[in-house]
Amino acid sequence: MSKLKLVFATNNKNKLEEVKAMLTNFEIVSLAEINCFDDIPETATSLEGNAILKADYITKKYGLNCFADDTGLEVEALNNAPGVYSARYAGETCNSEDNILKLLSEMGETLNRNAQFRTAIALNIEGKQFVFEGICKGEILKNKQGSSGFGYDPVFRPKGFKKSFAEMEMTEKGSISHRGKAIEKLVTFLNSYS
Ligand code: IMP
Repeated sequence: MSKLKLVFATNNKNKLEEVKAMLTNFEIVSLAEINCFDDIPETATSLEGNAILKADYITKKYGLNCFADDTGLEVEALNNAPGVYSARYAGETCNSEDNILKLLSEMGETLNRNAQFRTAIALNIEGKQFVFEGICKGEILKNKQGSSGFGYDPVFRPKGFKKSFAEMEMTEKGSISHRGKAIEKLVTFLNSYS
């Protein structure tokens, strides 16, 4: 029997491989594999909204089943900023280092360091839409720790751990992370989908 084809709206090879390994009953293809090199708009004001925008863009343009994700860091003392703007917190052309510096400066000596990473995944399958969420709670460190990972990893310490995300192996981070949890929900759903 041929496998149901699903586009994962990403160009991130790590994310793609991780998801492919978990969804062996499906034919998972990347944007490049469907020859989509468009700059897909991410103009929504919520993570769910952006995930839906991306998944809908592909489904409408190519008529394909698709899922897309969007992630943000939500800091309690900053009214959940940077949230949906996490990638460009310090400006349109900023890098992770700039974002971290801005975050630490906005927080200053604030005692409430509570924060969470949140991932939303939108899935369009056979005319229906489903949204999944994954959350990883933790706190913002006062200084960077570790050099693995990406984004805000050096200043985020997940709850119950002594290490920052940037001090963890990829598999350890994946087993407790926001994205890992959202993907797990997607995988459970799809593996029982008929
Ligand atoms: P994206 O939706 O996965 O592209 O994530 C948006 C932004 O959130 C990224 O550019 C990073 O700044 C940040 N981010 C997402 N996931 C993580 C993570 O696992 N660790 C640290 N930063 C992350």
